[in-house]
Amino acid sequence: MKVVVGNEQEISRLIAEEFIKQVNAKPNSVLGLATGTSPLGVYANLVKANKEGRVTFKDVATFNLDEYIGLEGTHDQSYRYFMNVNLFDHIDIDKSRTHVLKGVGDYEAYAAQYDDEIASFGGIDLQILGIGSDGHIAFNEPGTSFDSLTHVAELAESTIVDNSRLFNNISEVPTKAVTMGLKSIMNARKIVLIATGKNKAKAIASLLKGVKTIDNPSTVLIDHPDCTIYVDEDAYSLVK
Ligand code: GLP
Repeated sequence: MKVVVGNEQEISRLIAEEFIKQVNAKPNSVLGLATGTSPLGVYANLVKANKEGRVTFKDVATFNLDEYIGLEGTHDQSYRYFMNVNLFDHIDIDKSRTHVLKGVGDYEAYAAQYDDEIASFGGIDLQILGIGSDGHIAFNEPGTSFDSLTHVAELAESTIVDNSRLFNNISEVPTKAVTMGLKSIMNARKIVLIATGKNKAKAIASLLKGVKTIDNPSTVLIDHPDCTIYVDEDAYSLVK
């Protein structure tokens, strides 16, 4: 793993440049995308670059990491909605090539074939990840098998509390999600993780210690051949 430390603006710009480089080198790239507040700066940079004509997404395909169970794609806290309003609606992407797990209806059946669907597109070229304060990536909470593929997951209590800031009330936060597994994520050819803020410091310190443990799901990344961790000073503050 490589580590890059910089302020939020800098690391967001650097990650966006990685995406632009990837898509310009391979216009039909398969991108793995994440939600949460962490990637917002990256997406804003991609929108800008697309409008400036520095990159086109017209032949790109995307796969998102996860979705809450129980939320329709039109719900303002669903991850499909998040992707539309923060990225897809503002770039020249073909929306039929954007994939987000379903949170309603036959969500289990869709999840069961998601890894095969990703493989049918040739696999993910570049995956962006955020990280939860408990070290979760996508919705793979502590205790998740490193061999997991896309599956239904229970959210940890700390994740429900963390994510409740985006809902009117904590009781509205779904308790389950569908998520790519840790193995699904590791299948990506290149991975970038972005973490900012003090509440990520413990998880980042444990990750950068370099010891794999299912108590911190992000430590699966230690074995990835091409993974870069982008952090701000706060997220890096407990690394010795
Ligand atoms: C959610 C998502 C994760 C994300 C995490 C951190 O739980 N499922 O993919 O990494 O939140 O979110 P934030 O970036 O808002 O701190």
